[in-house]
Amino acid sequence: MKKFFFGLSILATLGLQASDSLSLNMASMRDGMQSVQDGFLYNNKTTILDGLKKITKANEMFHNEASAAEFLPKEKKTLSKVAYLSSKSLNIYLSEMEEYVKENRIIEASSSFSGVVHSCTRCHAIVRGW
Ligand code: HEC
Repeated sequence: MKKFFFGLSILATLGLQASDSLSLNMASMRDGMQSVQDGFLYNNKTTILDGLKKITKANEMFHNEASAAEFLPKEKKTLSKVAYLSSKSLNIYLSEMEEYVKENRIIEASSSFSGVVHSCTRCHAIVRGW
């Protein structure tokens, strides 16, 4: 019985850490998006690139299908592949955007930004049942 409770408390701790890192990384993604938008609005490419870096770093938490599944509600676990693919497409749009910004192709970069927003929304739609 003691072992059982010990196991439970470890699970609870792990659960807490997982959700902590989720909200920290999501806050970081949100900050990154803010920088990107500010960079577009105030004409500052470095701010855009810093924002992209921040989002890319936070997105590392979804490094495989299992790590995406961890944060899905029980009844949505079957959609873990779609959730994982949304984080992969997020990465692709982020690096595409980075290239465009570096090449000063800002209109194309803003189109890639739509892809970034779409990727965030794709995963949130699953998680939130939108
Ligand atoms: C692979 C899945 C996934 C992707 C991709 C994703 N998120 Fe999230 N996000 C979640 C989960 C899971 C939650 C927590 C559940 C909820 O808020 O409904 C969340 C919540 C959030 C929250 C609210 C956090 C809170 O503390 O309430 C913000 C802000 C957020 N995400 C920003 C973003 C941004 C910005 C992007 C894209 C750049 C993004 N997310 C991409 C899974 C994802």
